[in-house]
Amino acid sequence: MQAAIERPITTDVPVHLEGIGKEYGHFTALKSLELTVAEGTALGFLGPNGAGKSTTIKIMTNLIRPSRGRASLFGIDVRREPTRALARIGAVIETPEFYGYLSPFETLAYAGRLRGMSPKEIRNRSEVILKEVKLTEWADRRIQEFSKGMKQRLAIAQALLHEPDLLILDEPTSGLDPRGMAEVREVIKSLKGQGRTVFMSSHLLGEVQEVCDDVALLNHGELLVRGSVRELSRGADTSTIQATFLRPATPQDLEALAALPGVEEVKDSGDSTVDLRISGGEEGQARVLEAMITRGLRVTTYRPLGSSLEQLYLDRIQESDRL
Ligand SMILES: Nc1ncnc2c1ncn2[C@@H]1O[C@H](COP(=O)(O)OP(=O)(O)OP(=O)(O)O)[C@@H](O)[C@H]1O
Ligand SMILES: [Mg+2]
Repeated sequence: MQAAIERPITTDVPVHLEGIGKEYGHFTALKSLELTVAEGTALGFLGPNGAGKSTTIKIMTNLIRPSRGRASLFGIDVRREPTRALARIGAVIETPEFYGYLSPFETLAYAGRLRGMSPKEIRNRSEVILKEVKLTEWADRRIQEFSKGMKQRLAIAQALLHEPDLLILDEPTSGLDPRGMAEVREVIKSLKGQGRTVFMSSHLLGEVQEVCDDVALLNHGELLVRGSVRELSRGADTSTIQATFLRPATPQDLEALAALPGVEEVKDSGDSTVDLRISGGEEGQARVLEAMITRGLRVTTYRPLGSSLEQLYLDRIQESDRL
């Protein structure tokens, strides 16, 4: 058999994308994406509308054919051996549709049969999984009574039915109200806690920061940033600091602050408060604070506005939009 001769290059890496790209007609939606996700990692696949997130996910799950490159799941080429590659994954792509007259139990039974699971296996797993997504009480109710958030949790349950090692979610909280979002996030966090690998797209940075270990940032079909949430939060070079003084700063003070090395912008926000864009990481921030004190400005608060990861995200997107 061909598969026996051509051993996959990677072994057990849940996700390995090697230069995948996609053209829709003359439009390049995805350039040449290289991305690996290690076992047990929750990766947040971030990017604005049209960045190419769904295109990537559809290539990974063999819903569309890439124009170039190769996607492998657990070392198995998705195009060459789709059944084997997809057997270990569960996916929720776009808003799932259910039959309204069925209950979650019936829906899962149907999905389980399609996957070749035994009735006993289906029953046991359904109970476990409905508990996990907090739908036990609703197991026998008709789905037509469900809210969007409940349907989304049911979709995740369906994706988890066969205990996949990798869960792929395309914007799992999109279209949900804040409570629905929080509920879905809780489910994903608990999966992560069990050591499963999660690949989830989102355009919400805060969500990714809350749920994921790693981030990949995409824009215009190109990978801009890849790293761990912690490292990227620490490593961002530029951040906005809000400083409040005991007495309002004079125009001369503001001018002097703007002239300091590393200070890119000073904005008087009134009420003795200024917002400063400072480069040079934490070192830069410390130098500006020292300079304020040396100048006799009596600082009462000095705190970052928004996370530095947020700043990094916005900077990189803006930069790539300019090109
Ligand atoms: N079937 C298609 N035919 C033509 N163009 C397409 C098709 N699917 C996607 N595109 C285009 O490719 C680009 C990337 O789309 P994609 O759906 O991957 O983005 P996305 O990052 O998932 O965006 P969103 O956050 O809006 O879901 C977009 O400009 C989109 O218009
Ligand atoms: Mg999308």
